[in-house]
Amino acid sequence: MTDFKQRIFSGVQPSGNLTLGNYLGAIRNWVTLQKTYESIFCVVDLHAITVWQDPAILRDATREVAAGMIASGIDPKECIIFNQSQVPGHAELAWIFNCVARMGWLNRMTQFKEKAGKNRERASVGLYVYPDLMAADILLYKATHVPVGEDQKQHLELTRDIAQKFNNDYGTDFFPITEPLILGEATRVMSLRDGNAKMSKSDPSENSRINLTDDRDTIARKIRKAKTDSEPIATTLEGLEGRPEAKNLMNIFAALSDRRAEDICAEYGGQGFAAFKRDLAELSVSVLGPITEEMKRLCDEKTYIDQILKEGSEKARIISEPILKDVHNIVGFLQS
Ligand code: TYM
Repeated sequence: MTDFKQRIFSGVQPSGNLTLGNYLGAIRNWVTLQKTYESIFCVVDLHAITVWQDPAILRDATREVAAGMIASGIDPKECIIFNQSQVPGHAELAWIFNCVARMGWLNRMTQFKEKAGKNRERASVGLYVYPDLMAADILLYKATHVPVGEDQKQHLELTRDIAQKFNNDYGTDFFPITEPLILGEATRVMSLRDGNAKMSKSDPSENSRINLTDDRDTIARKIRKAKTDSEPIATTLEGLEGRPEAKNLMNIFAALSDRRAEDICAEYGGQGFAAFKRDLAELSVSVLGPITEEMKRLCDEKTYIDQILKEGSEKARIISEPILKDVHNIVGFLQS
């Protein structure tokens, strides 16, 4: 691997299909960043089981996420791609961070509140301490930067708090204070059916999201069916305030075409949504079609994917083991 000074770490859960949100908010940016940062990308299976997963489905979903990363352009020769459970250091460091993070900090996590819902008492303990594991993922490699979508911002603030408290408690500057990288025109892709809800793999409505397993026809149909409103398209982005569905489609268009949302408003402003949607459907199919097809092909190559994950885990262990050893030493664990 090339010797870069700065290191990125990021992850995706293998719990359901990869969506356009995962692609535009995260994976697409990783493809660009891999050229300038030492890059570690993780399929976070330990995170996935905070909500029960069928074991056979989890195995396939883990391969599918890895296939999605590679099909999107992550180069397994230049980057590390692995699944979290093959590197035991993640769970070990998470335990240490469980002892550093405060209950009050975790109580503020909005994602836990959303996921646990009214049934908080029945949520797994893992779901509650999930952000500590996420901090461990990042700091196990002393990653300096973490590229994510906007929904992960609060978790990254917690990661910074944990690093800071660890450093203070033990009188060290061992852990870096990680910078989030929230990049692009679509940092929060919304549901195609409801512009106020995040596009998510767990939404019961299939039409709310584009999956990276959808074929070309399905992608085009979902865009054509996406909810809009009856007003003409505004000529500026500010003109779309209060119109969440229209704004979301504009951001998707911008991100997929590598253009500014402002410029697309200027181009389509004053018209209805028919031509805009037709062009967005065509654009989506031309960008996503080759990725979804390559991903499908790779999903049939289980041995190849398993080999990449195995080699990635070995490389990840080589980086993380000395770091974890230093942590043991700092904390005061006897080592033979
Ligand atoms: P996950 O699996 O929910 O999502 C993976 C990545 O996709 C981004 N994303 C979105 N971006 C824009 N719009 C959306 N609708 C959308 N949906 C998802 C997420 O922001 C994320 O970047 N906790 C993390 C996984 C994780 C992780 C880590 C990330 C575990 N350890 C360490 C970074 C560093 C999660 O559940 O992501």
